[in-house]
Amino acid sequence: MEDAYRIQGGKKLIGEVTLSGAKNAALKMVIGALMFEGKVTLKNIPRIRDFDELLNLLTELGATAEFIEENTVVIEGSGLKSNTVDLLHGSKIRSTFLLFAPLLKRFSEAHIPNPGGCRIGARPIDRIMSGLKELGGIVEYDHETGYYHAKLPQKTHGSYTFEKPSHTGTEFMIMLSLFAEGTVHIYNAALEPEIDDLISFFNEGGAHICREGTSIVVEGVTSLIQKKPYTIVSDRNEAVTFAVLGIITKGDISVGPIDPHLLDVFISTVKQCGGGVEIIGTNKIRFYYKGPLSATHIETEPHPGFMTDWQQNWVVLMTQAQGVSTLHERVFENRFEFVSELQKLGAKIEFDSTQVVNPKDYYHFSYNAEKTYNQAIKIFGPQQLHSGVLTVTDLRAGATLAIAALLVPGESIVKGVSILERGYERFVEKVTKLGGEIKRL
Ligand code: EPU
Repeated sequence: MEDAYRIQGGKKLIGEVTLSGAKNAALKMVIGALMFEGKVTLKNIPRIRDFDELLNLLTELGATAEFIEENTVVIEGSGLKSNTVDLLHGSKIRSTFLLFAPLLKRFSEAHIPNPGGCRIGARPIDRIMSGLKELGGIVEYDHETGYYHAKLPQKTHGSYTFEKPSHTGTEFMIMLSLFAEGTVHIYNAALEPEIDDLISFFNEGGAHICREGTSIVVEGVTSLIQKKPYTIVSDRNEAVTFAVLGIITKGDISVGPIDPHLLDVFISTVKQCGGGVEIIGTNKIRFYYKGPLSATHIETEPHPGFMTDWQQNWVVLMTQAQGVSTLHERVFENRFEFVSELQKLGAKIEFDSTQVVNPKDYYHFSYNAEKTYNQAIKIFGPQQLHSGVLTVTDLRAGATLAIAALLVPGESIVKGVSILERGYERFVEKVTKLGGEIKRL
């Protein structure tokens, strides 16, 4: 296989998309399932590459995972026999450090390599490892091997305040606290809906987790047992990708099932720039072209703001809007690698070096005054893009380049699409159903 898509763009994409389960919930829930006694059934699992990688890793550790239907998996952690995550598999997915929670519960000691994931900034886990220490863990990092070694000699206890909120970090602190001695308080927690999905999953199994805004209280229990299968929430990021595809190709795409409130900020931004949106019932949203688009000025933020995961798709949309748009990335450093790929198609995008007043507070990553950052861009529109040969730099950038190729008339090649397929289920099939011409090479 060439690991590429051949795309004939220029067609209006029209139709309905059934969203898959959220990658950023499913991966965490499968690891969370190892904290239960007995079998755990999870429905709406997206069949994506990251998920397959994770299942390989879990079975290597001794857990069992069996798909009983296309998107339903049954996990059982009682057979866990190893407390060391393999370097090759473990370094491929960002979420593997979450395995510290079930492994420390089972073995009181565990060894996990520095996590991998997409090439978007340094993505350290310092705040997360501080949280483990604060709740009673002992953690050491071996720079030579790239492994974290952790011990948890007693039950977790106490409280932790995130210096800045972290999505997966919040999930980790919740998992660590499930069987705590007494009550654990987590402050300045992240607000992403996938975290609340994880909380519901644990609470249905007997956990006592309560959220009030950015404060989370976990009352330790002695065991978790699943009573009925759990269905994972739909993928908001996939919804955004198809929304942009609908508008940019002058088409009309409805996405569901999804609670429209999860996309409030996205929906209002689409309306603000002149895109068409219609909420259909309680769990479907229609996105369509209804006339020329106007420029927008966006700063990315964690939920409930305009998510960093949406900005790359949005940038290609803004190449078609009237005027100069601006986009400032606040959450991750180095999430503009795809810009040079869009420039190959004739997009006029420039980096904006205007400094912000208090970068240490403004950015969600740990800002280092000694480093140079490219965090803001200007997008000049509307630009007529042309076809070309593109290379995927990271997951969301993969979808962005596919959108660009589907927009422009003529043939384009998008290379490195296995990175896109780490997070999008049946992308080719879904685009084809909408009338797009796309072939996996
Ligand atoms: N950060 C630190 N130290 C830490 C933890 C985070 O410096 O200990 C920094 C990060 O480097 C980043 C910022 O804090 O600059 C926020 O990171 P966060 O921990 O919130 O992000 P994450 O949990 O690593 C998850 C998703 C991302 C999504 C973000 C924002 C997963 C596996 N990944 O990342 O998804 O963009 O939250 O919601 O859940 C994607 O799906 O393409 C993707 C990158």
